[in-house]
Amino acid sequence: MSIEPWNIQKSAEQYRIEGWGAGYFKINEAGNVSVTPERDRPAVDLFNIVEDLVRRGIKPPHLIRFNGILRQRAQGIYESFDKAMAEFEYKGKYILTYPVKVNQQRQVVDAVRKAGNGRGMGLEVGSKPELLAVLSMHDMPKGLLLCNGYKDYQFIELALMASKLGLRPIITVEQFYELETIIRASEAIGVTPEIGLRMNPTNRGAGRWAGSAGENAKFGLALYEIVEAVKQLKARGMGHCVKLLHFHMGSQITSINAIKKVMKEAARVYTELHRLCPSIEFLDVGGGLGVDYDGSCTNFDSSMNYTTDQYARDVVWEISAACEELSIPHPTIVSESGRALTAHHAVLVTEVMDVAEVPEPPSTPDIPPSDDDKLRDLSILYRDLNLKNCHEVFSDALSLREEFLQLFVQGQLSIEERAYAERTLRNLFTRINQLKSTMKYVPEDLDVLEGMLKDTYFCNFSVFQSMLDHWAIEQLFPIMPIHRLAAQPTRRAIIADLTCDSDGKIDKFIDLKGVQRYIDLHPYKSDQPYYIGMFLIGAYQECLGNLHNLFGDTNVVHVELDDLGNPRITSIVEGDTIKEVLGYVQYTQEDLIHGVHTQIDRAVHQGTMTPEDSAKFMQRFKESLSGYTYLLWESPNGASAPFSDPIKIAQGA
Ligand SMILES: Cc1ncc(COP(=O)(O)O)c(C=O)c1O
Repeated sequence: MSIEPWNIQKSAEQYRIEGWGAGYFKINEAGNVSVTPERDRPAVDLFNIVEDLVRRGIKPPHLIRFNGILRQRAQGIYESFDKAMAEFEYKGKYILTYPVKVNQQRQVVDAVRKAGNGRGMGLEVGSKPELLAVLSMHDMPKGLLLCNGYKDYQFIELALMASKLGLRPIITVEQFYELETIIRASEAIGVTPEIGLRMNPTNRGAGRWAGSAGENAKFGLALYEIVEAVKQLKARGMGHCVKLLHFHMGSQITSINAIKKVMKEAARVYTELHRLCPSIEFLDVGGGLGVDYDGSCTNFDSSMNYTTDQYARDVVWEISAACEELSIPHPTIVSESGRALTAHHAVLVTEVMDVAEVPEPPSTPDIPPSDDDKLRDLSILYRDLNLKNCHEVFSDALSLREEFLQLFVQGQLSIEERAYAERTLRNLFTRINQLKSTMKYVPEDLDVLEGMLKDTYFCNFSVFQSMLDHWAIEQLFPIMPIHRLAAQPTRRAIIADLTCDSDGKIDKFIDLKGVQRYIDLHPYKSDQPYYIGMFLIGAYQECLGNLHNLFGDTNVVHVELDDLGNPRITSIVEGDTIKEVLGYVQYTQEDLIHGVHTQIDRAVHQGTMTPEDSAKFMQRFKESLSGYTYLLWESPNGASAPFSDPIKIAQGA
């Protein structure tokens, strides 16, 4: 029987890249991940980009952004709505609005606001800092500025004045008390407010964030509050200020049925509101358009069982049907699709620094270090293991493992004897696991072996800084090596980050059937770099990321295609330096240097440090303060790091 050699197609299936890659990510003939940031234009080789960055001295981890993908995503959503509107002869418009909370980085907001490409792009803010950021850059005439979230007088006043800048701010009442503040502020500054009302749908979304709607949702008005708000506005002659109905059914809605249900309810509220306030113009359906992180097209938490086209069809159809029934004008539809717009555009590339491998077991057991009965039993189990008895041997080995622990704790086993037992048991489990792969029927209790026998790949990044949702809510992201994909990944592994935290690891991966507890990776070669990409991390992860262990922002690069279709790095944003992250926790550079000087003086005085060593120590300390918070891993290919290597900076390189 000939075994077919491994090839890139097998890697594509292994990592499911055709599912989650959505046409942006593929594997090229060289066995590297390729990125197609713009439709009908050449793909670029991600591995080559990383190598180029390393040659320029920009050390991993790298967050690589493809603004072309942002533009494609925006265009794709617009096209889906255009098609749906044409199909149902919809007379209103559609405006895609970016909720900046999804990724507030200036370069991202700037790229997104331009991504509307003539169609315009609204921006949504949920806090005062977000409002201020957006006010500094939203320059589209009559550009929609949706103001959600909790608001105080200052927030509302600034938002109202934005109309004088030529924008179209709509202040959405999320909590009833805000209505009075809006009225007060608008009277004080003499601006007629445009008001949105956020309803809280009774129907819930589907997926992890389903609780954003429904009875106990944090935001939104109950129907009786909406009716009361309209009554109060009309009583003050301000009924015409009601312009928008908003709802948000939660992020990452996994099921199209849930969307249909909520849409039906919201469309009906819209038509009723139109009866009370014919001035209303917009129906804002919030966020929720999902991302297929595992490429399974199912209603699993990491996936979605619908396409953007289907989403747009259902949104447009439900609104159109409800309006047609009562012959009321079709509203302008607004969606605040943040995740779907930004997730794909950013990739984190990290480098493997070391691997703790599960070793290949010997075919015969090592000789026990003593004639202890139990050690002998273990060695016999090992010697006599075969396919037929392996289930039984497994259960005997588990009992022996318990006994060895007890004997050691009671002082009846030396550390050398226990070390022998541990090593032999691990080898035995590995052999049982190997036999298991040849079994026709696998007993269920042998399944735990998969979890016990995995390599650990130590990578230069922090889960808490770059993929917080994996730690916080067990969200799955597609992860795979970005090169060597023409070769079979033969190691079964989990990924550990740099933090001193046992949670700082990735041990859940995408899988067609749910969650996989390992990822297949290539054997690590210490003389070659091995890069792993973490994909679809453009939504939420950056601003949620925290400074655990004081690992700061990573180096960020922006890649665009030039006229010839070659990738060009258009901007580099250096990651945090050590002195910056220490500043966040109130250590000033002066205090740090002063503190170390004091320590050095004492050491020199006491004779534990020579004056020469003290000078060297101080120099290193100062250099490190200006350096990257991640490890300056000396790439096996010998590339040096002019700007991220503190020593080079100090020498003025
Ligand atoms: C009010 C509101 N709009 C829009 C969004 C963005 O949702 P998504 O990223 O799922 O599109 C959110 C996020 O939860 C939200 O709370």
